[in-house]
Amino acid sequence: MPYYHKLGQIPHKRHTQFRKPDGGLYAEQLFSTEGFSNDYSLLYHCHPPTAIIHTDEPVNVAPTVAEEKMLKHRSFDGFKIKPQKDYLQSRKPVLVNNDCHVVLAAPQESMHDYFFKNADADEMIFVHEGKGVLRTMYGELPFEYGDYLVIPRGTIYQMHFADAHNRLFIVESFSPIRFPKRYLSKYGQLLEHSPYCERDIRAPENLPTIDEKGDFLIKTKKRGMLYGIHYGHHPFDVVGWDGCCYPFAFSIHDFEPITGRVHQPPPVHQTFEGNNYVVCSFCPRLFDYHPQAVPAPYNHSNIDSDELLYYVDGDFMSRKNVTRGMITLHPGGIPHGPHPGAVEKSLGAKETKELAVMVDTFHPLQLTVEALDIENDNYTMSWAE
Ligand SMILES: [Fe+2]
Repeated sequence: MPYYHKLGQIPHKRHTQFRKPDGGLYAEQLFSTEGFSNDYSLLYHCHPPTAIIHTDEPVNVAPTVAEEKMLKHRSFDGFKIKPQKDYLQSRKPVLVNNDCHVVLAAPQESMHDYFFKNADADEMIFVHEGKGVLRTMYGELPFEYGDYLVIPRGTIYQMHFADAHNRLFIVESFSPIRFPKRYLSKYGQLLEHSPYCERDIRAPENLPTIDEKGDFLIKTKKRGMLYGIHYGHHPFDVVGWDGCCYPFAFSIHDFEPITGRVHQPPPVHQTFEGNNYVVCSFCPRLFDYHPQAVPAPYNHSNIDSDELLYYVDGDFMSRKNVTRGMITLHPGGIPHGPHPGAVEKSLGAKETKELAVMVDTFHPLQLTVEALDIENDNYTMSWAE
């Protein structure tokens, strides 16, 4: 999906002999997430990425759905998710459907003993708290507060954190995560009206080539099961790669808000999309400048989508009792809008400092047991005075 990029050494022509200093051949791997009919990369490994030496018994990690159907406004205290040492164990799916899983995580420790590969889903990891380095077979991506890390499914990675205080908001997407189509030219360049451009997209940097033999465990998630697959060579043995399919970082702080004389609709905040859902970034911005403008959003009937808002930082103009890490879920079918008093309060306001990530799904989300554990009571009736 992003622009063409290359790192390390690659042969002059694809699919030709590319030799190591000792005369042996590097192993070429084509990497794509949609067969041979979409963006791809070619990676050159010291060893074929196929040498499995043994396998573990699979473990079921599928989310446990507690409420499959419902029609109520809900709110969840995301920071009540308990920190856990292990990265994978810390990931708690809270709202799920067949297109995406919304996951919260507060991992405390870096990954040293194993690697992770999500074979089902592209991942969008929004870093709410913490910093570190995402290590992948494509190289390294340093990350910090406000970064979206977008990782194509199948990418082998490790998260390395600077310390134990990390809060992540994750979307597992069962289709490729894309830039919105309307932002792109016919040939794929981000257009002038897009709220971000190629300069804001950070590709992997550094490509340490680890040519090591041993027992390397890649925990691989497929259809709700986690398979322990052991390989005889380090997975980060790539000497070079090029192409358009690779993990990248984009900071929410680099999203340039689009503003107007009157209230702008949510699509101006759109950042990414997948099949049947979109991701939007609500960033600090100047408010509408028509002299009679109402900066607070109008009530609206989202009849065909569930609206999930994850509150990151700043003031949240249209709601009361909002805290960092909170999720609100306004399901399709009943209208929602500003809380009582919020419209009057917004009049004449010049700017907002709100920072939030929205995920709108076009099919209903289901609530997991972890969601019910962190639910805030009395949200449904919080509009009634
Ligand atoms: Fe809404």
